[in-house]
Amino acid sequence: MFEAKFIPQTSTDGRTQSCIGAHWIMPSDNSVIKVQNLQKIFPGDVRAVDSVTFDVREGEVFGFLGPNGAGKTTTISILNTLMLPTGGRAEVLGSDVVTQASKVRKGIGLVPQDLTSDEELTGRENIELQSQLYHIPYAEASKRADELLGLVGLTDSQDRIVKTYSGGMKKRLEFATGLVHKPKILFLDEPTLGLDIQTRTSIWEHIRKLRSESNMTIFLTTHYLEEADGLCDRIAIIDHGKIVALDTSDGLKKAVGGDVIEVEVAECNMDVLEMLKSIKGVTLLEGKCSGNKARIKVPESNVALPLILEGFWNRKVAVLNVAVKKPSLDQAFMEYTGRELRDEDKGNGGKPGVPAAKKGRFGRRR
Ligand SMILES: Nc1ncnc2c1ncn2[C@@H]1O[C@H](COP(=O)(O)OP(=O)(O)OP(=O)(O)O)[C@@H](O)[C@H]1O
Ligand SMILES: [Mg+2]
Repeated sequence: MFEAKFIPQTSTDGRTQSCIGAHWIMPSDNSVIKVQNLQKIFPGDVRAVDSVTFDVREGEVFGFLGPNGAGKTTTISILNTLMLPTGGRAEVLGSDVVTQASKVRKGIGLVPQDLTSDEELTGRENIELQSQLYHIPYAEASKRADELLGLVGLTDSQDRIVKTYSGGMKKRLEFATGLVHKPKILFLDEPTLGLDIQTRTSIWEHIRKLRSESNMTIFLTTHYLEEADGLCDRIAIIDHGKIVALDTSDGLKKAVGGDVIEVEVAECNMDVLEMLKSIKGVTLLEGKCSGNKARIKVPESNVALPLILEGFWNRKVAVLNVAVKKPSLDQAFMEYTGRELRDEDKGNGGKPGVPAAKKGRFGRRR
């Protein structure tokens, strides 16, 4: 078991601890993934995973966000025993990913970033083949295939070869294949990348269903921030191989700043501005009273807004319009990573990047 290392500062959800520029998780008894100082340095000093520490709790949907080349797939590959770390350690379901790899594999399922289904086989055959790899008896495998094909809406096309599937159908098949052996932890590496909104929404539904019906732990990487926002209990942001934040979605949003309140009044003058500045909690007054509109940044709008409205009321200033803007996960992501998208080749200090290796679910480790 790993030792807990804490930096005693503020806590947003009672479990996370923050330090300057990063949030660290307090390991809890029900952790199913424990990662400590994990490292993967590729030849040429490409620090894909650079001393990463975090825990994932049983039954949670854990989001792993980061720009291209941040180290998400590499981390997943190590946790799935597909790749050996160059430093640190990781335990999955109580087993070490290096020394107890086969034990780890029994309890996990992976939907990899790259498609791995056999295109010459039918959808059903792919699922049954995966069942054989897990030594599931035929009768049970057949029943399971029926269930999974139904779950991902491929029952009608189960006997078509995968080559004839659309991209969304292939991705849904990958999802089903990863679930064949009822894993305790399901790793989803970009499960919805490139899919249309209908298919994405249906995959989100599957994830919610799995979570509510089976208490499965889900480790999810995604580029869609609204996906992470809507699905994940907690989110880690990784950049240049380092975890730069780990918290709930609300915690991450709060950490980058408060709510912005825009007020339009009949008359705005210095007295009004002074009143706004004097209200407890107003941390920033953006802009001037131009066009009789003021923009105010506050830690929590539900606390500040009544005081602001009371201030206008006391000065007999009519309020024409009020808008409250909550910080978004996009803002938090930008704050922590400094950009929305990144050219992978420019990551790691401009070192030439190498695309993540194409791998089977549990292929040879490197
Ligand atoms: N087999 C490899 N050999 C050398 N470098 C690699 C290898 N696999 C990944 N890298 C490099 O490691 C870094 C992290 O890659 P990784 O695939 O983990 O990123 P990612 O966060 O999953 O990115 P994306 O969002 O584009 O999928 C990148 O700079 C990548 O080029
Ligand atoms: Mg990746």
